[in-house]
Amino acid sequence: MARVERKSLPVGKTSVAKELEFSVPAGIARIVQMLYSFKGGPFDPQCLIIGVLSQSVRYLAGRQMKIPKRLEPLLEDGLIDSVVRQLMSGKEAMVFVVRCGEETRCAKVYKEADKRSFRQAVDYTENRRSKNSRHARAMAKGTRYGRRVQEEAWQSAEVDALYRLAAAGVRVPMAHNFHEGVLLMELVTDAEGNAAPRLSEVEFTPEAARIQHQTLIRQVVRMLCAGIVHGDLSEFNVLVGSDGPVIIDLPQAVDAAGNNHAKSMLERDVQNLKNYFGRYAPELLDTEYGKEIWSLYEHGGLTPEAELSGRFLHSLVPVDLETVVREIDDARAEERARRLRQALV
Ligand SMILES: Nc1ncnc2c1ncn2[C@@H]1O[C@H](COP(=O)(O)OP(=O)(O)OP(=O)(O)O)[C@@H](O)[C@H]1O
Ligand SMILES: [Mg+2]
Repeated sequence: MARVERKSLPVGKTSVAKELEFSVPAGIARIVQMLYSFKGGPFDPQCLIIGVLSQSVRYLAGRQMKIPKRLEPLLEDGLIDSVVRQLMSGKEAMVFVVRCGEETRCAKVYKEADKRSFRQAVDYTENRRSKNSRHARAMAKGTRYGRRVQEEAWQSAEVDALYRLAAAGVRVPMAHNFHEGVLLMELVTDAEGNAAPRLSEVEFTPEAARIQHQTLIRQVVRMLCAGIVHGDLSEFNVLVGSDGPVIIDLPQAVDAAGNNHAKSMLERDVQNLKNYFGRYAPELLDTEYGKEIWSLYEHGGLTPEAELSGRFLHSLVPVDLETVVREIDDARAEERARRLRQALV
């Protein structure tokens, strides 16, 4: 893979990445490294003292991080051994770096529904039905119990999608566990072992942008072949790991066959990728992969290896307005009948 050049990062992010390295051996190694680097040059005791102090502060900060309340059950149940630090606080969740035995992992703690933003909107949850009829009724009525069931369904949707996508060969973080509303997963890292940057934080040459864009288009195809549309794919939800791009953040993923918004969401996902990589390789702005992919999917011709051209032939057949209006009226009547039935339950 092409060498990854990070853009200058926001202050928090730089220290986040570096602090992943704390451990006594790593700290000592750093100090020894510093001592060596002074060999040959003028010895500067001030520099050395600052170096030793900063390593100690990092070490202590890592050791003494107060365990966030939501992570306590995982600690008690032995799923994690310690919390290294908070990695990010996004719109929907807080992400922590945790230690599990010899491994460093990532714990995503979902925010409660009222602290979250737009994504639980009906567009995304449409057709997410509970198989349990009591749950389904409670959810439809919006009772307190129903809201709790809905909340649990929302939180477990991401781990379900991660398992399904990994099985379909899509590069997503490997899920380890989902416990008490916390998703434990692989920490995606860059070549140096630091938390991987997002696409938005990386500079690309035109050639690298074309390659990354192609790789991600293939991943989108694989996802759709597994029946899933991401629904919020953009340069902020793709990490640039040491082995290439990794797609993250899937609680809103929609069922391609059962959600009426799946087509527009897929097209928007692909459009976001095109706009981002188009900044580095402007010829990508003329492509229409989204429409091409959906058309193949709709006609049963989409496979993970399907050849794509990035072009889409818009139909030249004039639109039969009468039929369209009739279809809309039918859909409206069906919806009215559905609501009436629901009100009678
Ligand atoms: N598996 C992972 N490995 C490394 N970093 C991760 C991982 N998962 C999440 N992150 C980091 O945490 C950030 C937030 O994660 P995520 O996008 O899943 O949550 P979110 O609350 O929806 O965030 P946002 O609102 O910013 O989209 C990511 O942008 C990324 O920097
Ligand atoms: Mg995100």
